[in-house]
Amino acid sequence: MSVTADIQRLRTELGKLASFSESPAPAVTRVVFGDMDLRARDYLKTLFAEASLLVREDPVGNTFARWLGRSQSLPPVATGSHCDAIPNAGRFDGTVGVIGGLEAIRALQRSGFEPKRSIDLVLFTSEEPTRFGIGCLGSRLLAGALDASAGDTLTCVEGRTLNELRLSAGFSGRLGDVQLSPGAYEAFVELHIEQGPLLDLGRLDIGVVTAIAAPASFRIIVDGEGGHAGAVLMPDRHDAFLAAAEIALAIEAAARATGSPDTVATTGMCEVFPGAINSVPSRARLDVDVRDVDLGRRDAVLAAITAACDGVEGRRGVTVRLEPINADPPAWCAEPIVNTIAAASEARGLRHRTMISRAYHDSLFMSRIAATGMIFIPCREGISHRPDEYASPEAIGRGTEVLADTLAALASS
Ligand code: GLV
Ligand code: MN
Ligand code: MN
Repeated sequence: MSVTADIQRLRTELGKLASFSESPAPAVTRVVFGDMDLRARDYLKTLFAEASLLVREDPVGNTFARWLGRSQSLPPVATGSHCDAIPNAGRFDGTVGVIGGLEAIRALQRSGFEPKRSIDLVLFTSEEPTRFGIGCLGSRLLAGALDASAGDTLTCVEGRTLNELRLSAGFSGRLGDVQLSPGAYEAFVELHIEQGPLLDLGRLDIGVVTAIAAPASFRIIVDGEGGHAGAVLMPDRHDAFLAAAEIALAIEAAARATGSPDTVATTGMCEVFPGAINSVPSRARLDVDVRDVDLGRRDAVLAAITAACDGVEGRRGVTVRLEPINADPPAWCAEPIVNTIAAASEARGLRHRTMISRAYHDSLFMSRIAATGMIFIPCREGISHRPDEYASPEAIGRGTEVLADTLAALASS
């Protein structure tokens, strides 16, 4: 059985997918349930149908494209990723796992392979937190890690709820029906760019992921006292933005203080109210992302940030509110799948290593309901979430072939 990825086709389809973007090339912006997201989904569903896959969509828009196996009573194996993209992103994050997953299936079909278990390609809804403030929305719901009440409580910046937006995008039904039971899948394997520099630096072909770091995010709202930028004297000020700035620096310090390169903290959003050059800010909002592979250390950083907020509150005469968004535990990949991916890489003579994922992925939640593994491929200089994100067609082809071999092994058992 010779399983070979069509590199030219991968390149063309990834290029076409990148054209569905809210920002001009080379940047890609594709916000969930926006026009471009819906057009990208339509394009992908056409490709799924061309490959004779049976397509099903759930109430949140997770899309399942199934290649029927011989033994349909057995739990299927699955692969997949996401196609939404944060503002000003690149074209490879998530999409490599969707187009690569599809090409892995097509390569197996071309080879004459007949799966015993069905193979699902899953397109997850909203892996990125851009619209609703929380990452892995679709896979969280699939894994039962987010209550269906989120349909009414999660809102976007324009104030529309998840339920309103999914319905207007054409995804109806009860959100509670999205959840899959543990064991619904025999295994889940996600192909993704590394989004870090290790494979590129080491001139390696494949990263075999063993664990996914524990992400947490929260919102900090600082209320101070506004006023006229000329008239309020400096000693009398309770500037909400300056208090928030101190907090942002304390967040950086808390992450650095662990001394571990595995601890990272980012204040990626800062909103100042009322946002006028001649007005002392009365309110500031920070959105913060903290991650570590060590849950205890991550939580210690969260505690240090809370203490820093208390200190700033007292010193600057402002009030600081901290609203948690999520605090997820890390995930471990299943050893048999790690071994299958490593064996597939070895058999193809590819240079590979085990590694942890510092980015989160839908695999973080799929691991709660299925034995899970991830295949990383190098991206240039580890750059990601930027328009200059790049993975070569050859690298994507190698990852796709390792994925195909892995799916073939898992679907045959
Ligand atoms: C996923 O995009 C992440 O932020 O890790
Ligand atoms: Mn991403
Ligand atoms: Mn991703």
